[in-house]
Amino acid sequence: MKMFGKKWGVLAALIALMLAVAACGGKNEGASPSPSESSKAPAASESAKPSESAKPSESAKPADKKVVLGFAQVGAESAWRTANTKSIQESAAQAGFELKFSDAQQKQENQIKAIRSFIQQKVDVIAFSPVVESGWDTVLKEAKDAGIPVILTDRAVDSKDTSLYRTFLGSDFVEEGRKAGQWLVDQYKDASEDVNIVELQGTTGSAPANDRMAGFQEVIKTNPHLKIIASQTGEFTRAKGKEVMQAFLQAHKDIDVLYAHNDDMALGAIQAIEAAGLKPGTDIKIISVDAVKDGMQAASEGKINFIVECNPLLGPQLMEAVNAVLEGKEIPQRIVTKEGTFTSEQAKEALPTRQY
Ligand code: AHR
Repeated sequence: MKMFGKKWGVLAALIALMLAVAACGGKNEGASPSPSESSKAPAASESAKPSESAKPSESAKPADKKVVLGFAQVGAESAWRTANTKSIQESAAQAGFELKFSDAQQKQENQIKAIRSFIQQKVDVIAFSPVVESGWDTVLKEAKDAGIPVILTDRAVDSKDTSLYRTFLGSDFVEEGRKAGQWLVDQYKDASEDVNIVELQGTTGSAPANDRMAGFQEVIKTNPHLKIIASQTGEFTRAKGKEVMQAFLQAHKDIDVLYAHNDDMALGAIQAIEAAGLKPGTDIKIISVDAVKDGMQAASEGKINFIVECNPLLGPQLMEAVNAVLEGKEIPQRIVTKEGTFTSEQAKEALPTRQY
């Protein structure tokens, strides 16, 4: 009786051990199984699938981990930028992403530092709007070597190696400059005397400053009477726009037209023009770019004559691009934002429903 009991005891222990081993094997093979799924023993072919197809980095990421997006913003220099930041923050929250946001205060070295920190933190995707066009190859190569995809938004880089980023999403700044130039050419098609233009450029070396200048020059050169008599950076800010316009007004008594690369600089310049006893939009015609609310307000009052739109609401498209990149989908190397233009009359109509 004693011997019989011991044998059954050993047998029972063996069966319990085998059952425990089988249960452990089942748990390892399914990714986060639901309670009912975990009790199912997977077929041999199914259990082989995950480890065979997954890349090392992907298999290390838990299925329920949030996508982490590192975004290195230019700064907070204009109303356009504020609207752009808000769009990115709101869209990232809606997409359920964790957003690591950095403000570079218009300094390239701060953006490079932020990108390096995103690489160290092993974010899933890095997106940024480069302050200036040049000098990105080294840090972009570091991101590429770390296997982190990069998406450019709003502004371009001049890197020859386009494999350093997956896509560039934003406006066509050359086209914006052309639209500004075309309005002027049309306005002065019958001019028999020279038309003196002053230009408030954006941040020196930035894509919008370079391209808006190039597109504008390309078109106005068709009329030899259209002459740029002074051109200087106003760094895309209202304060600097005002300061430089004051200097222009002191140096030149015969300014006919101001071309400002953004609304904020035009708004600063309007203050300087009014302080000099002149009527903006009448004594000096004003063209600007962006079409933010304050700019549209000034246009509807006739102080700005023509605005070329530059859309800052890039957040939704950026999140779509992040998802596409992480899902391994093909995306175009360039995604161009659709934009319009506004005369004073059109600005008056559009103002009540303007979002930014
Ligand atoms: O890069 C877009 C430009 O940057 C906007 O036109 C300007 O307002 C901003 O600061």
